[in-house]
Amino acid sequence: MATFDLQSILDAYGPDSGRAYAEHLNPRFHDLLRLVGFDRRFVRGEGPHLWDDRGDRYLDAIGGFACLTLGRDHPTVRDALEQALRIAPPTLIQFETPPLAVALAESLKRFLDRPDDRVFFVNSGTESVEAAMKIARAATDRSSFAHWSNAFHGLTLGALSMNGAGWLRRGFEPLVPGCREVPFGDPEALRTALADESVAAFFFEPIQGKGVVPHPPGLLREVAEICRQTGTLLVADEVQTGLGRAGATLASRADGVEPDLVCVSKGLSAGSIPLGAVLGSAAVFDRVFDSVERSVVHSSTFRENPLAMTNGLAVLHVLREEGLVERSARLGDALIDGLRRLAPTVPGIRSVRGRGLMIGVELDPKAMSIDLPGLANRTPTLVAQALVVRLLQRHRLLAQSTSKGSGVIKLVPPLVIADEDVDWIVEAFRESLQELARGRGAAVRGLLGMLQRAPGVVLRESMQ
Ligand SMILES: Cc1ncc(COP(=O)(O)O)c(C=O)c1O
Repeated sequence: MATFDLQSILDAYGPDSGRAYAEHLNPRFHDLLRLVGFDRRFVRGEGPHLWDDRGDRYLDAIGGFACLTLGRDHPTVRDALEQALRIAPPTLIQFETPPLAVALAESLKRFLDRPDDRVFFVNSGTESVEAAMKIARAATDRSSFAHWSNAFHGLTLGALSMNGAGWLRRGFEPLVPGCREVPFGDPEALRTALADESVAAFFFEPIQGKGVVPHPPGLLREVAEICRQTGTLLVADEVQTGLGRAGATLASRADGVEPDLVCVSKGLSAGSIPLGAVLGSAAVFDRVFDSVERSVVHSSTFRENPLAMTNGLAVLHVLREEGLVERSARLGDALIDGLRRLAPTVPGIRSVRGRGLMIGVELDPKAMSIDLPGLANRTPTLVAQALVVRLLQRHRLLAQSTSKGSGVIKLVPPLVIADEDVDWIVEAFRESLQELARGRGAAVRGLLGMLQRAPGVVLRESMQ
């Protein structure tokens, strides 16, 4: 038998992977990491925490872009995957009905309380959106799509066509024709966009990932009604919000709507094995897979593989057994409350928003008296980035700057965090904001230096 030694590969590449990454993968991304101060080497991850090569412990509130709902290396998931490798059910026979896919579809429908749905498995969030776009076209015989401004639904060509950020679309046109962007939160503009009854589906994130922007109360009900009146399918992109992240199994249900199609991914995978799914009614699915010949009209090679299916089953089991949806709601409330109570006592917090453990802290650089000459409109983004660096380097907290023309720091930690992790985050914000206000001269010089070294790079808005 050929022997394989994973540890020796990690030992060989770990200490200096940056230079090799630049050579073999993406040199500009390597530059970005150095410029924004993400210069740590992490050697261990467990639950919501990471350890660097000096033995220091960090709290990860980036959470693998919100997918690590169970944290890293959850023992039940690890055991389930080890069982799958040991039992080794025959994989990818393709002309079969995989038992683990059946079990996961049933379990997912029960978990999300959508008993009458069919399920279509995919390998990622963006693939769930692509699948939903095709399903919506086939089900309605219409071709165009509508979405809010500031939307993020993924970066493959179809999903990118519904992306609210021009800089992400630029260079990849032409995209899917007929995608209509509607100003976020404007139901009358939506009514106008859907009025000619040619739009197959309206896609929305229950809470927009970029900037962490929830819908105002009642708006989604109004949106659902407009879609019903115009025969437009309502598609909830719950890739980020679903399965507990926003303190509910489905964030759209918490807003009082039952969408025609639901996309899930991050929370179903929880980060171990890539996985996603689209759920929708039998009537809608039957319009796509409408004959024996067309029963595989949309498909992909790996989508029902046993490791991914086992992973999904184990993740749902842990979410249920450990009460993590409720935990997300409870700890999210505590964190939002802690940060809101901090706001009047330190300079620089304009608002704290979100639900469950999907939280955005909007900064107010004016209140911190930070003024970057000639860069007024870039200042919030830069100040948010400066705070992110400080949170990482001084308080061992991984957070992400995500902006919507303003500086927002996004917190999406694993749902398994403890009360003391909530305190860790609040204290890190308190001390960093005080430090930033005290040393704002040095901070401004640092920011301007960063800008000179990397014009353009650090100014880009974060994607998610
Ligand atoms: C709402 C939403 N939809 C789709 C995607 C794309 O998912 P993926 O990165 O798995 O392709 C993301 C990723 O951040 C997302 O937040």
